[in-house]
Amino acid sequence: MSGAAAWRSAAKDAGRVFERLDWQRLGELYFHWGGADFWSEKRPQVLELGAALGEQLAKRVDRGGSSLWVGAGVAELPVLLGEVGALGRTVIATNLRAEECDVLNEGLAAALPACPLRYVAADARVAGVAPFDHLGCISVFTDPETWPVLSDVAYGRMAPVQLPVEQFVAEREQARALAKALLARLRRPGLVTTTAEEVAWLLSAAAEVGDTIDADEELVATAVVGDPVGWLRVTAPA
Ligand SMILES: C[S@@+](CC[C@H](N)C(=O)[O-])C[C@H]1O[C@@H](n2cnc3c(N)ncnc32)[C@H](O)[C@@H]1O
Repeated sequence: MSGAAAWRSAAKDAGRVFERLDWQRLGELYFHWGGADFWSEKRPQVLELGAALGEQLAKRVDRGGSSLWVGAGVAELPVLLGEVGALGRTVIATNLRAEECDVLNEGLAAALPACPLRYVAADARVAGVAPFDHLGCISVFTDPETWPVLSDVAYGRMAPVQLPVEQFVAEREQARALAKALLARLRRPGLVTTTAEEVAWLLSAAAEVGDTIDADEELVATAVVGDPVGWLRVTAPA
């Protein structure tokens, strides 16, 4: 199968999984974004933008390599299926919400029983076998559930006078440690897919170990959170 045909087939697979997902349960899990109604409205866009993201990623990663995805959810599904199906890559898709992983895995098993892709309910710092040549990190450092203060600051939702300084410092240290641990699992040279809103965490962690980062000009919109996604090339010091 040609590259383009393989991507079309992966996009169809994503559509098949979407037909078998329990949107009611996913709606409850993402209730703060509007529940099942949110998903019925967003589904076509998630498939379309996910496929666009996958096509861009395909230009930047090698066949047969391996990706570590942090906090992967519904939005990443078309990309993950493309990586596995069209590029023959190994994909470790992690998410700390075990129930979300269960729902996604049930949909995958029902629609594509032979497909090896499954979400792993584990911390990306320890899941799979490093090094990976690609790290995917979409809306993790801006997640309001994990980092309520960092998220409010990143999106300008909190006035400086309201900043709970101790909580901010504690969250910042946790986020710095996560960024450092994730980058330590990336091969050099390596690629990172991330959003504009959280890129500073990865730039800062890379600078700490003397890595060089080149940011790609191209950005792709995301369907769920709406933050634009782009790519970083990480190179070790000479
Ligand atoms: C806001 S959600 C983003 C979901 C999806 N990427 C999207 O854009 O729709 C953030 C996710 O990151 C996950 N997460 C946070 N820290 C993580 C870690 N260390 N390892 C794996 N997942 C993590 C949380 O469990 C949560 O599901």
